[in-house]
Amino acid sequence: MKVLTVVGNRPQFVKAAAVSRMLRERADEVLVHTGQHYDDEMSAVFFAELGVPPPAVELDLGRGSNTEQTARMLSALAPLVDEHAPDRVLVYGDTNSTLAGGLAAAQAGIPVAHVEAGMRSFDRRMPEELNRVLTDHLSDLLLCSSQVPADRLRLEQVTGRVEVVGDVMVDVALLVQPRARADAAPLRDAGVRPGEYVLVTAHRAGNVDDPGRLRRLVDLLLALPLPAVLPLHPRTGARLDAAGWLDELHGAPHIRLTPPLGYLAFTALLTRARAMLTDSGGVQKEAYLAGVPCVTLRDTTEWTETVDAGWNVLVDLDAAAALAALERPVPAERPELYGDGQAGGRVVEALLRPGRSA
Ligand code: UD1
Ligand code: UDP
Repeated sequence: MKVLTVVGNRPQFVKAAAVSRMLRERADEVLVHTGQHYDDEMSAVFFAELGVPPPAVELDLGRGSNTEQTARMLSALAPLVDEHAPDRVLVYGDTNSTLAGGLAAAQAGIPVAHVEAGMRSFDRRMPEELNRVLTDHLSDLLLCSSQVPADRLRLEQVTGRVEVVGDVMVDVALLVQPRARADAAPLRDAGVRPGEYVLVTAHRAGNVDDPGRLRRLVDLLLALPLPAVLPLHPRTGARLDAAGWLDELHGAPHIRLTPPLGYLAFTALLTRARAMLTDSGGVQKEAYLAGVPCVTLRDTTEWTETVDAGWNVLVDLDAAAALAALERPVPAERPELYGDGQAGGRVVEALLRPGRSA
């Protein structure tokens, strides 16, 4: 069997780390990198650190608006799908690379497998929500991180086959977190001590593209009562720079700005943080797994189970609510929510099953 996998963004390299090597023991994989993320610190470092096989095809399709980027990806991926004539196309998550890979395959009549299917924020202003819904409805095999998205997909009457496999990011986090927790160097480099700082990431377009929202984010960061390490996503860095607010953050004595970090350094900082503040999807899960309380800088989340379990609080960009959330006691229980760390193997099994919907 031949599987053509399309990746392009930082979280997808992490997801592929749970699947690609295992898949290659049983099938031929053609890994295509759209180039949506292209800086070494957003891309190459993940391949190197997590042992993701190098892409067979590297495109250069980053930059531009969502529609324009997706259109360029479709134009480039359609001939690649024809050329390689795979038995399945595998896509992860909810980015422009996900939708473009799925649609190019579906148009060519190739069955699509979607990992992390069924996630919803129910906020159609998010480009990711459009990408998720569209990809789910064109997929033949919908592989879910938990029962909640699987039930939802059945309610939405998707035509593909729905399976709960667990979450592939959990596989990687469970492997790496114990090792990362013992690595003191990233904390030393950031000048922080275990349990005495918060780690912050923010890159969601809805938070950083609008100057009014971006200002609220800056004010929230300035109001934090303890050291904050903030690895800057390129979108956020560019918006802060354009607004003239980068120097203000650089000048704040409690804020440590860094470039985007590799997975190992980031995970080391995450596992020893007092709390995680983030608008990332993947990071909400990783904080939960590490037993680190999460304060989510959004008013919706796809990872509702972490909120229900008491480990995650949605504060949007409300500084007072964020400070209050940091004071909350840590829940006593942390049930398994997204599988046992073996999702990658289940993805491979599902892919290899014969038939159109695998
Ligand atoms: C994308 C995804 C988002 C995901 C995020 C992961 C979509 C619609 N959005 O958002 O769902 O959470 O990736 O991080 O697909 N840039 C660089 N260097 C890079 C990558 C990007 O400078 O290596 C710049 C680009 O030029 C662009 C901006 O950052 O102007 C945003 O990049 P883009 O990939 O369009 O969106 P993200 O915000 O990264
Ligand atoms: N991550 C990282 N370095 C950073 C920030 C994030 O390695 O500086 C990792 C993080 O551990 C997670 C993934 O990148 O595995 C999440 O990516 P991102 O937040 O960009 O995307 P999202 O999950 O929001 O789509």
